[in-house]
Amino acid sequence: MNPAAPILLFDSGVGGLTVLAELRKLLPQAPVIYAADTAGLPYGEKTEAEIAARVAGLLGRLSERYSPRLITIACNTASTIALGMVREVLKVPVVGTVPAIKPAAAMTQTGAIGLLGTAATIRQGYVDRLEAEFGNGHRLIRHAAPGLVEAAEAMLRGETVDPAVFEAAAQGLRSQPGGDTIDTVVLACTHFPLVERQLAAALGPGVRFVDGAQGIARRIEFLTRGQAFAREAPDLALFTGGEDTFAALAPALKRYDLERTEPF
Ligand code: DGL
Repeated sequence: MNPAAPILLFDSGVGGLTVLAELRKLLPQAPVIYAADTAGLPYGEKTEAEIAARVAGLLGRLSERYSPRLITIACNTASTIALGMVREVLKVPVVGTVPAIKPAAAMTQTGAIGLLGTAATIRQGYVDRLEAEFGNGHRLIRHAAPGLVEAAEAMLRGETVDPAVFEAAAQGLRSQPGGDTIDTVVLACTHFPLVERQLAAALGPGVRFVDGAQGIARRIEFLTRGQAFAREAPDLALFTGGEDTFAALAPALKRYDLERTEPF
């Protein structure tokens, strides 16, 4: 294994940075390429076919060009729809991101779990299967919150966000049958840990949040154990969208040690 071979993290936007933050803690020496399909953002409002085609096509091109040692789809929407397909077509190991229903089921005291994701994620059979297998029979209350994706993107660009967005997401869970007893919320979109503090304020006290970022970082560490790492150049962030998108994000990207940005 070439020590400079990168770990590639892929998302539609800045959500995957929440996974990168956990990965940096475990593998600080690992060279990373962060690829965001900002031209396709938001994935949550697209059809399954559109998402699968974009993700498979982009990951194919990215792996040819950058020869990553491992790919992480740091996006619940893309993973719940396209993970199986991508694994079939690429030779490199692919780690996905799926809603953390299992740990949430172990944490809840009231038996009512909220799940916030994109519209595309919450309708997936993949989520139904996770609920059936790991939900312990608890009540899983799902709500699509596309406004939180926009809010997280805006906050990382340094813009202020109207708190009504977070209140609407909280209300979307609380207003459903059993919603008033929710004590655990699965953040089933990698963008959402970026707005966890605001969500906590909107949901009120006594609610715990769970997301998959730490578990994914541990999985990457496990799969690359024993491999040599050498960061020969500053880590790179790639964007499919216009130059203006990543110019506004550059200061935030620097905080994640992504010093170079390029269009892809
Ligand atoms: N970050 C993505 C996820 O985890 C999706 C955001 C979007 O493009 O809608 O679901």
